[in-house]
Amino acid sequence: MTLKTVLVTGACGEIGQALVQELSKRGDYRIVTEDMMPLPETIKALSAEHVQGDLVYKVKTFYDYDFDIIFHLAASLSSKAEVATEEAHRINVEGTMHLLMLAAYRSEKYGKSVKFLFPSSIAAYGISNLDVKKSAGSVKEDEYNTPHTMYGCNKLYCEKLGMYYSRYYGQRHLDPDPPFMLDFRALRFPGLISAFTLPSGGTSDYGPEMLHAAAQGKPYSCFVREDTKISFMAMPDAIKSLLMLTDAPRQNLSHIIYNVAAFALTAGEFRDRALRAFPGEKITFNPNPRRQGIVDSWPEDVDDSLARKDWGWKPDYDEDAFFDQYFLPQIRKRYGM
Ligand code: SER
Repeated sequence: MTLKTVLVTGACGEIGQALVQELSKRGDYRIVTEDMMPLPETIKALSAEHVQGDLVYKVKTFYDYDFDIIFHLAASLSSKAEVATEEAHRINVEGTMHLLMLAAYRSEKYGKSVKFLFPSSIAAYGISNLDVKKSAGSVKEDEYNTPHTMYGCNKLYCEKLGMYYSRYYGQRHLDPDPPFMLDFRALRFPGLISAFTLPSGGTSDYGPEMLHAAAQGKPYSCFVREDTKISFMAMPDAIKSLLMLTDAPRQNLSHIIYNVAAFALTAGEFRDRALRAFPGEKITFNPNPRRQGIVDSWPEDVDDSLARKDWGWKPDYDEDAFFDQYFLPQIRKRYGM
């Protein structure tokens, strides 16, 4: 069997670690990783080669590789990007642009399709106030595309860049097979929660931070209001959706950008769930105006009917399954609570 060569950028991040583990379980891939950091022990042995350093300067290293699939996960998340805007733009936009050019070049050189998987975000949406947020409910991909944050602007623009490169460096070779050379596909993820890793620099981080803190018997001061509602997803579902979209035949895809959703909860509901599992823990609410403003601009939920229709998406973990079958059993094992 010929192994497919995949590149995973941002491999040390939460999605990266979980994705590398899943790709390795599948066994059909030669996995090349990239990150600013050395790989953690959990995935070190699973990577055939790790390139450490700033992607913007490291992309030229990859011009000798024949990648079949690129998972471009490296990014500066929303809260961090708001305080280091220029750096965020460099990482989030320039990094993506260089990698798209690489993918276009490789697909042309080898005359074959290169799949480019891009995790976008609910941050690509921007809603003007809480009344509109409430009435908007579950938003569709083409609604409220007016992000309020640098991270959201970066993600939305990179979706467009991916579509641009796909069109001009892909369909140029239209007839007859394969129809797309640079085959760009993007998912808009909600807040993701892993039982094994914690996020850093994001704004949906209050969800995982609160749950991990309660499970360790530590007090937690939540940086958003109790009534703050956005959608969340278990990390195994995020990886499942990424791989389902990767595997979907191109002709089934009526779109390039897809929402994926699992369950929407308020921060207060997270607190109630955490206290039910870990009674007596101390969870308080002390909203930070900047971070509150960011989540207030994100929708309460997203409509993922396109993904369900085009490639059969369905999460394994709704709210109850997330807590009862995934998070609590794993976290109890991890922290022994
Ligand atoms: N989880 C991300 C963040 O909070 C949103 O995609 O920045």
